[in-house]
Amino acid sequence: MSFDRSIKIAPSILSADFANFGEEIRAIEAQGADWVHVDVMDGHFVPNLTFGPPAVKAFRPHVKTFMDVHLMIAPVDPYIEAYAEAGADMIVAHYEAGPHPHRTLQAIRATGAKSGISLNPGTPASVIEHLLPLCDMVLVMSVNPGFGGQKFIPSSVDKVRQVREMIGDRDIHIQVDGGVDPITIGPLVAAGADCFVAGSAVFKGGSVQNSDVYGDNIRAIRAAAEVALSS
Ligand code: DX5
Ligand code: ZN
Repeated sequence: MSFDRSIKIAPSILSADFANFGEEIRAIEAQGADWVHVDVMDGHFVPNLTFGPPAVKAFRPHVKTFMDVHLMIAPVDPYIEAYAEAGADMIVAHYEAGPHPHRTLQAIRATGAKSGISLNPGTPASVIEHLLPLCDMVLVMSVNPGFGGQKFIPSSVDKVRQVREMIGDRDIHIQVDGGVDPITIGPLVAAGADCFVAGSAVFKGGSVQNSDVYGDNIRAIRAAAEVALSS
């Protein structure tokens, strides 16, 4: 994947029909998703449980675009290889997941996957300064991780601006995750983010039988982002 800062929409399959992941993934990709975002939760770092490596491995053949795997788990290091073997194109770990995020990023890079670091809403941007040389992406959480459908936290916009400044001309994506919709995306684009996770805002009102709605939702999010880019 060559680097660029074009707008990328990454629907979170946390909002998909859990009995039908293969078709849901094919539907969102056919309807314009750029990436597929997989939320891994452990019932410990966050108060919810989702996908182990075998589930992610089962998603893999259905993903034709790019699968970013967001690990909301602690400890994270013992599981990195398993998620890489399951087929993650990018693995994102939380800064808050343990005392050695630098080692975690080294371990992700060693698997050959792209690497990302994620910041909870309460964590300042400054902590990633010395981690950036090991990052392909910084994920700014705009809700407290654990659930889809939460309200966007406005101070995330300032954090994106700070991260964008720290990155300078390095090839590092900025992703935002949580409460992203056609209203909240504008200021995030203006602040310098290029990659947007959206769960509820993509899946709401649609289904695999009625997947045009996914397309309408994705186009509405993208259009709002393009307006912000050109103004
Ligand atoms: C939250 C997850 C998100 C979530 C986004 O812990 O990391 O990816 O599914 O969902 P929405 O877009 O509904 O806020
Ligand atoms: Zn996520």
